[in-house]
Amino acid sequence: MYLKNLTLLNFKNYSQCETAFSEKVNCFFGKNGSGKTNLLDAIYYMSFCKSNFNSIDTENIKHELDFFVIQGNYSIKDEDYNIYCGVKKDYRKQFKKNKKEYQKLSEHIGLIPLVMISPEDIVLISGGSEERRKYIDSVISQYDKSYLELLINYQKALKHRNKLLKDIFDTKYFDQLSIEIWDEQLSAYGTKIFEIRTEFIKTLIPVFQKYYNYIAENGEIISLNYISQLFEINFLDGLKKSFEKDRIVGYTTFGIHKDDLELNLKGFNIKKIGSQGQQKTYLVALKLAQFDFIKNLKNSKPILLLDDIFDKLDPDRVKQIIKLVANDEFGQIFITDKSEISLMKIFSDNNIEHKVFLVSDGNIIESK
Ligand SMILES: Nc1ncnc2c1ncn2[C@@H]1O[C@H](COP(=O)(O)OP(=O)(O)OP(=O)(O)O)[C@@H](O)[C@H]1O
Ligand SMILES: [Mg+2]
Repeated sequence: MYLKNLTLLNFKNYSQCETAFSEKVNCFFGKNGSGKTNLLDAIYYMSFCKSNFNSIDTENIKHELDFFVIQGNYSIKDEDYNIYCGVKKDYRKQFKKNKKEYQKLSEHIGLIPLVMISPEDIVLISGGSEERRKYIDSVISQYDKSYLELLINYQKALKHRNKLLKDIFDTKYFDQLSIEIWDEQLSAYGTKIFEIRTEFIKTLIPVFQKYYNYIAENGEIISLNYISQLFEINFLDGLKKSFEKDRIVGYTTFGIHKDDLELNLKGFNIKKIGSQGQQKTYLVALKLAQFDFIKNLKNSKPILLLDDIFDKLDPDRVKQIIKLVANDEFGQIFITDKSEISLMKIFSDNNIEHKVFLVSDGNIIESK
């Protein structure tokens, strides 16, 4: 599966632009603010019907204009697809496959699997547990639509239970039956969510370790663990046990909304002890493991977007990443970087076929 060409009209800093890509490695070089990340974001739009960075569609329209269009021609399992995304102020976002508009955007998501690694992903390490749960949930919901429903139902039940706890806190009156109703619901949805998360992370771990070791080449011991109260006690018992505490604090302290991922290097939290390059390596390995996971599930290689990921990495690690993603296990790749010098040497030393583009002030020119 690959993107053959892309047309942009009034998208962020692009007025009008049409570019044809290589099936394999595509590199975009250019100064700060030239439009490299914006181009990758347009490719991201085509997969997820939204920007990776700005969820307000109309803010992605070129300033002072009132619409944008992104169109891409893809080859998917040897068939051609034209994907169209149009956003116009005061109108509904239009998404079309081969000129036919989707009724629901969710029908499109999954057709063009894609993984993006960008500097913003560092919040997975530096941020709180919510960021890591959000990450797990977004990856799983990409392929498991029923998971998203479970999450929504769980959140609803949690909101009701918390409201009850707050009422108990305010009035000192409590209705055992109402609490039990929400406990049953939380437990039913939460236990399933826990099982799905456990399975997902179990598959991710060995691939993640393989990739980290390949990139770092020094046998650093790293680990990734799923942390959940559900490993200690089943859901209903856990809720019962924490009820007294919940009553005092006025919200639910037990459940999968407290889950986390423990990211360790040499047995310690990587957020605290990891160097910037080690953290970056950890992230790249994690995201590449995600790539592998989606690839196996979809039986097709996702498009991989690497936005400015080489900053802080030493030349050996950069070389290892490029060698890794250029092999046949990976499909079409889009890489952005400020300067072409270091990457071009890796390409020529390792005989890696690639196309190079220069991005300058919203224009993309292929350099031959
Ligand atoms: N809606 C918009 N309309 C016009 N210009 C926009 C819009 N949104 C963003 N831009 C412009 O796009 C430019 C940023 O582009 P982008 O993030 O792609 O740069 P980049 O090439 O990735 O730079 P860096 O190397 O710093 O990461 C900025 O100059 C910004 O003003
Ligand atoms: Mg950028």
